[in-house]
Amino acid sequence: MLRRAKISVIGAGNIGGECARSIAMKELGDVVLLDIPNKDKPELHMPKGKALDLACCGPVENFDAKITGTFDYKDIEGSDVIIVTAGVPRKPGQSRDDLVQINAGIVKNVAENIKKYAPNAIVIVVSNPLDAMVYVMWKVTGFPAHRVMGQAGALDVARYKTFLAMELGVSVEDIQGLLLGGHGDDMVPLPRLTSVNGIPVSDLLPAEVIQKCVDRAKVGGGEIVKLMGTSAWYAPSAGTIEMVEAIVRDKKRVIASAVYCENEFGVAKANGGKGLFVGVPAVLGAKGVERIISFKMNDVEQKFMDESISHVKDLIGATIKLFPDLA
Ligand code: APR
Repeated sequence: MLRRAKISVIGAGNIGGECARSIAMKELGDVVLLDIPNKDKPELHMPKGKALDLACCGPVENFDAKITGTFDYKDIEGSDVIIVTAGVPRKPGQSRDDLVQINAGIVKNVAENIKKYAPNAIVIVVSNPLDAMVYVMWKVTGFPAHRVMGQAGALDVARYKTFLAMELGVSVEDIQGLLLGGHGDDMVPLPRLTSVNGIPVSDLLPAEVIQKCVDRAKVGGGEIVKLMGTSAWYAPSAGTIEMVEAIVRDKKRVIASAVYCENEFGVAKANGGKGLFVGVPAVLGAKGVERIISFKMNDVEQKFMDESISHVKDLIGATIKLFPDLA
């Protein structure tokens, strides 16, 4: 029997709310927004309020989507896709890694509930520090790796393309590019594979300008935190919804995502023979991560990738130190 997809969003804050809105606008499915009660104001029910506000956009924006808000994990039963944005965002001066202590505990709790109430869901983690939080989700749920992934590359690539388009004075739609590795400062730039409709970007911009775009994409999140006092939510949610759409519509999109790698891109070699979640181009479809697109990197790129893997490894080490049962 045909039915709409059920998409649950855990953490109904800035990114969660924007994800819910985009899901509805694109009619990707029905949405369940889950958050926790406000201890200081127990009379409030933020996810219910946000869901009601969003539902009332329907008649104006012409979408059909059921949007509900809840504190109860029972309501995520039967979810096809779950987006996890629960956790604290960055404040000025903080790195993503600084969030590990608080967010690892939150994501662990969320994962336990997903395992219990939605054991067949495909999970997209957004909470930071991303690469470690995806590991926590995978470890706690015990889900097969193809059903657990992290949103990072979609956002980093979007930022990279935005800055290139600004420099080139061309439409963002005509820029193709890829970044791999860990989220943010750790990303692996690939200007060699960046083009404007196939024309190598190196033919169009000086190397130092391309480098400036790469660097700005790396710290693009931090730039926004400094301006707003909290982390970005529009582009992170747009990146997440790109992944959700690829899955729900079985599009087989190739999207840079944090997925479990072993021999791809030398991950196991750089990680003591073990696999790791790290950003690579992945084919996303109805089964989740359907394939990793592997290709040969040059020596410089591989060096960046190895450094990135080593950072992700340290981050997971720090997470396991806090929660030894995650080893
Ligand atoms: N279960 C469910 N929701 C939770 C829990 C929990 N255990 N703990 C916190 N939350 C909720 C908060 O109540 C809040 O509504 O997560 C939501 C987070 O929303 P925001 O504070 O607005 O943060 P946001 O900007 O959406 O970022 C969320 O994504 O990109 C990352 O770094 C970012 O880690 C941060 C996360």
